[in-house]
Amino acid sequence: MIYAQKEDFFIMCGITGFTGKVPALPILLKGLESLEYRGYDSAGVTLVTEDALFTQKRKGRLADLESSMDVPSFMQTTGIGHTRWATHGVPSQLNSHPHTNEKETISIVHNGIIENYQSIKEKLIALGYVFQSDTDSEVIVHLLDHYYQGDMMEAIQKTVQQLNGSYAICVVTTDHPDEVYVAKDSSPMVIGHSENGSYCASDIPAILEYTKDVVILEDGQMAKLTPNGVAVFDFAGNALETKVTHIPYDMNAAQKGGYTTFMEKEIYEQPVAIKETMRGIIDHGQIHLPQLDAVDMQKIQYVHFVACGTAYHACLYAQALVQKWLGRIVTCVAASEFRYGNYPVNENTLCVFVTQSGETADTLAALKMSKEKGAQCIAVTNVLGSSISRYADQTLYTSAGPEIAVASTKAFTTQLVLLTLMVFDLAKKEGREIADGDAILKDLQRMPEIVKEMLEKAPLMDQYAHFLDNQYDAYFIGRQMDYVGVVEGALKLKEISYVHADAYLAGELKHGSIALIEKDTVVVALATEPSVAAKTISNIEETVARGANVILITTQQQDAPGFKNVIRIPDIHPVLATIPVTVLLQLFAYYAAVHKGRDVDKPRNLAKSVTVE
Ligand code: AGP
Repeated sequence: MIYAQKEDFFIMCGITGFTGKVPALPILLKGLESLEYRGYDSAGVTLVTEDALFTQKRKGRLADLESSMDVPSFMQTTGIGHTRWATHGVPSQLNSHPHTNEKETISIVHNGIIENYQSIKEKLIALGYVFQSDTDSEVIVHLLDHYYQGDMMEAIQKTVQQLNGSYAICVVTTDHPDEVYVAKDSSPMVIGHSENGSYCASDIPAILEYTKDVVILEDGQMAKLTPNGVAVFDFAGNALETKVTHIPYDMNAAQKGGYTTFMEKEIYEQPVAIKETMRGIIDHGQIHLPQLDAVDMQKIQYVHFVACGTAYHACLYAQALVQKWLGRIVTCVAASEFRYGNYPVNENTLCVFVTQSGETADTLAALKMSKEKGAQCIAVTNVLGSSISRYADQTLYTSAGPEIAVASTKAFTTQLVLLTLMVFDLAKKEGREIADGDAILKDLQRMPEIVKEMLEKAPLMDQYAHFLDNQYDAYFIGRQMDYVGVVEGALKLKEISYVHADAYLAGELKHGSIALIEKDTVVVALATEPSVAAKTISNIEETVARGANVILITTQQQDAPGFKNVIRIPDIHPVLATIPVTVLLQLFAYYAAVHKGRDVDKPRNLAKSVTVE
């Protein structure tokens, strides 16, 4: 069981590079194949000789790119490759990487988000540069063209000084056809060498077949790869000692970053996923969500949140926030019901559709119906260019990176963060004061650290999950916003461990469900809302009195006399408590499933995206 956290292997795109004594293309394509879990909406390669760059790129899967190339005929021994997870610029041929300069002498691939790309782009256009794509990445190749005077390392040093955000880049040039240059800050890059040449990639799986001894570049480092070896430098050009890491595990494990499953990896990616989702939105206590500028809340009479499954639970959370901050009663409806429920939908209605994949049939159908009735439709999704983003009036994106495991984890917590910012911004736009608004934004910005603290409780959640070894039922209870954690926690446990789990409002237990509680029944109780925590605790004590085995998640301050299994979340504004609670319950469900030998990444009967109604 791995409890460690790897921040740097955050998913966005897959990059490969090679220069050596054998053809580069097969190595690039095979490397990209091993990285497709990192992003797969488009792919491309550039091969380089002293005479020319050869770039082939297209929208679609890597297999589509491969089938369009006669691979054995390409003998070039240097090149770079990219498989994309779009963040800026929908998936298309032009937005695919690599990007080349106009003279076709320099080509680059990029993984990450350049926050200040707009201002750089304006300056470059003023200098006469012509852009081919809508991506943030393209500014890099034109900056390199601008600074290049024959020394590519120097041009890269000048270029990275202009970049704000996260990046890992590979660069090739016809002037030095047997060299590949890399530079990295906040996105991952590993390099290695074998007798056939030198390799670089976003992640270890792409080079593990050639060498198990890799150099994991650190932020602010760059490297020059030649057929005879690799050299590492800092951004000032000072040579650095190359720290080699021996990778003990195989390719399959490496695709999971050393974790056992994609779900485990995605649980541990949440600190970075949350950080990336907030990147560029909160600045000096102000929220920048220009997509919401078109929403005139004065005109809005009804607000409906519509989604399925875990995304529906995120909508329950947003519903509670709208009621607190916008002083409106809103509906939160499962998409499969919304279309038939005769809900008021007209030009005075705001409909918010939340969907990780952006392809869920029920949610898409509900959106289309709402559009036909004249509603203003906002989508919240994790996939740029997904169907939902093409139908919605405005789209807000989580930046969780591809979520491979069927059970949603990082997509959910990033939805909670983004929806908090969305409702907060709508309230501000309406001129409403939000009680503790500054404290809430401060705590939201601390969320990556808070989630990391929860991940460190993995061994405890692993231990608690053994309570279910001989149990086939579990009950999750809570009140108010804790109910979001309750329903999501129950779903996570059900869908990966196959343990029957019910979610109850704590106050409802005594109205019937408590008849189910007997000795050793597992009860997961949430009491993080100070205003109702004491009442919840007394509800939970009724289950203890009937022999239940209670796991209580509560605040630092809450008295919990007589409870043996108590986990206390860090001090955080109560409105945000669902996020750390969710991480604990993801781990609880995960370890319960592992103990029961389930296929955690691909649970029975389930699909990652339910594209049927
Ligand atoms: C989440 O763990 C489930 N696998 C499932 O409920 C999922 O949330 C639901 O199908 C909605 O998917 P979407 O967010 O891609 O629309």
